[in-house]
Amino acid sequence: MVNTLDKTFLEKSSWKPDLFKGKVGFVTGGAGTICRVQVEALVLLGCKVAIIGRDQEKTERVAKEISSLVDNPDAVLPISKVDVREVKQLESAVKRTVDRYGRIDYVIAGAAGNFICDFNHLSANAFKSVVSIDLLGSFNTAKATMPELIKSRGSILFVSATFHYYGVPFQSHVGAAKAGIDALSNALAVEMGPFGVRSNCIAPGAIQGTEGFDRLIGDASKKKTTSKIPLQRLGTTEDIAQATVYLFSPAASYVSGTIQIVDGAMWHIGTHFAHELYPDLLFKDPKAKL
Ligand code: HXC
Repeated sequence: MVNTLDKTFLEKSSWKPDLFKGKVGFVTGGAGTICRVQVEALVLLGCKVAIIGRDQEKTERVAKEISSLVDNPDAVLPISKVDVREVKQLESAVKRTVDRYGRIDYVIAGAAGNFICDFNHLSANAFKSVVSIDLLGSFNTAKATMPELIKSRGSILFVSATFHYYGVPFQSHVGAAKAGIDALSNALAVEMGPFGVRSNCIAPGAIQGTEGFDRLIGDASKKKTTSKIPLQRLGTTEDIAQATVYLFSPAASYVSGTIQIVDGAMWHIGTHFAHELYPDLLFKDPKAKL
């Protein structure tokens, strides 16, 4: 994948080009589709960012691609072979980031796992796997980075979803994890506020061009889903990046303990994820995983 944003972002966006100059970000899942564009926006606005991932080739390649946006090989630090389920690995990643850049101001807990599966076919280990990556991984990310955020009076952003606002089919594992993430973020906003640290969630809707969109909606239902979104268009990764910049910027300095939904108001009329599969899939005995 090539970078989604380019230097024209600076001309057409509402943000000052050096908004995040001197600041440092730490982003788990930073090589993934949504989070990499969040990183692109931060980097274009002057931030240095460590991206944390499991896959070495992917993490290093994406770091190079994002750095090329600002012609500065030092702009993005790839830290691979880190599984967010292991807090010690995250602590080492924090150390490497601080050794290289001196501080951490902004954290995005973005690493996530997902697949479509109904409860009857979901194994206990499958549920545990997603809850461990999404919820435990978010906790571990907050735990490992909080000492640095307290020092910098920084800000943490969790990546949530709208799946738990309703009983969305085939997503019990993700819904449970994301509900926990919202609760965690709210509690951190309260407990870390006195230390000057802000905590918020961002909840993306149907964002085109992402792995989540392909898995949950796909091309076949694209038109129908779009028609069910009040703003009558699919979301873009840039929409998520813009909201991210706002939440980290001084414009949001009094915003903490919120869940910023970026979904064109879709959740108000019901999330349309996986509707084409409901209820037929419940009665099938899938030989192959979706
Ligand atoms: C049912 C499945 C499955 C599937 C795996 N499992 N895939 N069950 N349907 N499609 C089961 C396995 O059989 C196993 O259970 C258990 O889950 C763990 O599987 P592993 O492959 O060993 O786990 P692991 O290597 O830890 O991989 C985690 C993963 C994987 C979540 C299963 O898909 C992953 O790493 N994904 C990361 C990338 C990703 O998913 N990106 C999409 C993000 S989109 P058993 O019982 O057999 O041992 C996203 C969107 C959210 O999050 C919201 C969007 C709006």
